[in-house]
Amino acid sequence: MRIGGKNKGERILFIAGNWKMNKTLSESRELASAIVKASLNLVGSEIVLCPPFTSLQEVAKTIEGSSIQLGAQDIFWEDSGAFTGEISGPMLRDVGCQYVIVGHSERRQIIHENDDVVNLKIKAALRNQLCPILCIGETLEEREKGLTLSRIESQLEHGFKNLSREEAAKIIIAYEPVWAIGTGRNATPDQAEEAHRYIRQILARKYGDEFASCAIILYGGSVKPENAPYLAEEADVDGFLVGGASLDATSFIKIIEKAIEVKQK
Ligand code: PGA
Repeated sequence: MRIGGKNKGERILFIAGNWKMNKTLSESRELASAIVKASLNLVGSEIVLCPPFTSLQEVAKTIEGSSIQLGAQDIFWEDSGAFTGEISGPMLRDVGCQYVIVGHSERRQIIHENDDVVNLKIKAALRNQLCPILCIGETLEEREKGLTLSRIESQLEHGFKNLSREEAAKIIIAYEPVWAIGTGRNATPDQAEEAHRYIRQILARKYGDEFASCAIILYGGSVKPENAPYLAEEADVDGFLVGGASLDATSFIKIIEKAIEVKQK
């Protein structure tokens, strides 16, 4: 399991593809193998694929031997038992996952997951040596009412509730403004940087400067090859959680290439 960057201010570019409820087994194999092939010569970023549960094993086999890692899109907060339809941390570890997305806005909004559930899921992930990718972000209404930063702060506080400093250091944060997800309307680089900087300030207040400077904070919401370089220019944007554009190997790889180029400048 990764723990932030190596040294102060030295953070690794991190790009995860969230396939959501897309791709059959054969489609997953095809996409993952195209990404593996195209990423062979890419140096300078961690790449994680998050296919649907049904494709985890297939993608695990396809990426074997490459540097690409596997993530799940959700986790249940108990480790086993009578929870029809749910998938546990031990099952995700068993299939080869190292990461798990927690608190995605689609789950918060459509499936009504609240902050308490998100916190339980973060704990389940950590208990099972899975690195949580905690999604936070405001709705359009909240942004228009000037509540963006307070919303981010409260989601962050809840997500990190009752965790040790060591546990907290394993969490990757994804700032995903709800109005930017799947809408084609990405946050501007300034809007993203404002939120990311604020998240880092909150972490610094809670855990100290060293901790905050090592934390990985991703941006998500309509990331495409065209906007990726501008977003990646921002000092506090450490990578992306990519939805729609990760369903196509060419556009996903282009995003990674462009972000590497910018971060290595
Ligand atoms: P999008 O989704 O890139 O399709 O906007 C991002 C996400 O939901 O993680």
